[in-house]
Amino acid sequence: MKARVEKVFGHLDPKPEALLLANSVEPHLDGSFFYLFDVPSGLFEGSTAVAYPDGNLDVLSSPLEATSAHLAAKTDRHLTVHVPTSREEGDALLHKLLDSKGSVGLNYQELTHQQFLKFEKMFPSARWVDASTAIKRARVTKDAEELGRLQKAADIGSAVAREIPGMLQEGMTELALATEMNYRMMKHGASGPSFSTIVGFGPNGAEPHYFAAGRKLQSGDSMVCDFGAFYRRYASDITRSFHFGKRDDEMKKVHELVEEAQQAALAVLRPGVPGKDVHNAAAKVIDASPYKGRFMHGLGHSIGLNVHDGWGMNQLVEEPIEEGMAITIEPGIYLAGHGGVRIEDDVVVTKDGYRFLTTAPREYLEVSA
Ligand code: GLY
Ligand code: MN
Ligand code: MN
Repeated sequence: MKARVEKVFGHLDPKPEALLLANSVEPHLDGSFFYLFDVPSGLFEGSTAVAYPDGNLDVLSSPLEATSAHLAAKTDRHLTVHVPTSREEGDALLHKLLDSKGSVGLNYQELTHQQFLKFEKMFPSARWVDASTAIKRARVTKDAEELGRLQKAADIGSAVAREIPGMLQEGMTELALATEMNYRMMKHGASGPSFSTIVGFGPNGAEPHYFAAGRKLQSGDSMVCDFGAFYRRYASDITRSFHFGKRDDEMKKVHELVEEAQQAALAVLRPGVPGKDVHNAAAKVIDASPYKGRFMHGLGHSIGLNVHDGWGMNQLVEEPIEEGMAITIEPGIYLAGHGGVRIEDDVVVTKDGYRFLTTAPREYLEVSA
């Protein structure tokens, strides 16, 4: 996509003569390949892309996705798709495209070391340039197409979040609930979950990045459900916390505090504000409560082609918020041995503030056993 290629080069100074992106084998695929080459489906293992400062793009596609690749080229006159039928043919083509280039940008953050060694051997006189920061800067603010897909991914997450209370049954395992959530996301149009669905019942909710496992739902359990959908490669990421059965006054209070912390962060969120100020606004609410120190992670992160899309927001981030960023706002309080509460929403930063992508209710919900 010409505009995206130019956006990346716009962040490079001095500009290399070409940018070379390479996918290895899943999970070592470079999201930036799909940022420049907008093809909605396919793995593209072993495929490469060469982009130029004038906005043109050559893609060397694996034959396994040739149909999708050719289809994408039909609607993009700045894109040329090649489908080499052997490794030798692919390498010869890369030589043809890059032998004349002195400086070549690489995505140091995503390229495998093995692939780098191969390129070093193929192009011994190339001057390699680390393009990873420029790529990250380009990707962190979204264009209209990206925002449309993020909204759809968020709509799917919100729809499933609304359905969770109706799925709960005493004795069901975390895995059973996660399975149902994943199924519903795909039923609503997702190509799959955007990461391993987190369902933590009772004390398991106190571990922020827990994976669903075998604990059975009991009356009196709080629960953290953190999940997201991929829609045409773009991710959503939403967390809702519920309570099942017998009342728990402490968890209710904790939930109210987390809601307050999220509101405090949203109240300062606008372009120009350093990321750390948004984090600190939420942390201040929690640190002024008896739960000081129990908010143990950054407030959020950028979302896009990956669920953690390269830009985090915590107490150290000086970089200002920019219009067009898509980020999560996800404060939480974690009580080891008891349970956790996290409320996570996806938002887009607008000229004056933000708008929600995720819309499911955020209030404390007690579901009867
Ligand atoms: N889904 C993991 C997180 O919220 O960062
Ligand atoms: Mn999440
Ligand atoms: Mn998140």
